[in-house]
Amino acid sequence: MTITLRQGRAEDLNAIVGLEQIAFAGDRFSRRQLWHLLNRAHALTLVAENERGELLGYGLLLFRRGSPRVRLYSFCVHPEARGAGIGRRLLEALEAVALERGAACLSLEVRADNRVALRLYRRLGYRLSRWLDDYYADGCAGWQMEKALTEPCGEQVV
Ligand SMILES: CC(C)(COP(=O)(O)OP(=O)(O)OC[C@H]1O[C@@H](n2cnc3c(N)ncnc32)[C@H](O)[C@@H]1OP(=O)(O)O)[C@@H](O)C(=O)NCCC(=O)NCCS
Repeated sequence: MTITLRQGRAEDLNAIVGLEQIAFAGDRFSRRQLWHLLNRAHALTLVAENERGELLGYGLLLFRRGSPRVRLYSFCVHPEARGAGIGRRLLEALEAVALERGAACLSLEVRADNRVALRLYRRLGYRLSRWLDDYYADGCAGWQMEKALTEPCGEQVV
């Protein structure tokens, strides 16, 4: 399977909505939110697609004007395509884009019970920065994690 990464565009909306539905059990973005994010100047989406043009994953960065911190706002891979390195490739590409755009630090939030994602983030150099009590809709706690892209950014808990 050949996977290509490219910037997401407005026409990807249906496929991204579908991915959200299948990849997340809760706390999903609505179609309206995703439309807004795909068309928003301060957000950047990368998608991973196979040779048939099917979207297998996507990741979305939120930039804040004048801030060196960028937030990974959404990130998922289709369940049938997991474990093949697509998540890692997407995240590394998102980091490269963030760096290119002058970001010094990438931060994200992850459910405390999401072992696969936590492991991937740790392997890529993200550090736990803050415990987020009762953060998700079902009451699950989360971790804020961050990675310095150019220089240390904030205190590390672990
Ligand atoms: C987290 C996620 C994006 C990872 O995508 P992926 O394409 O499977 O990631 P990769 O194939 O690059 O694998 C990353 C690591 O996770 C491991 N992994 C992947 N699927 C796994 C599974 N089902 N069980 C255990 N480990 C798994 C891989 O072996 C790899 O570890 P390694 O680097 O030690 O070998 C994907 O699991 C997903 O979409 N999950 C649901 C949505 C989600 O949790 N998003 C993150 C929100 S913060």
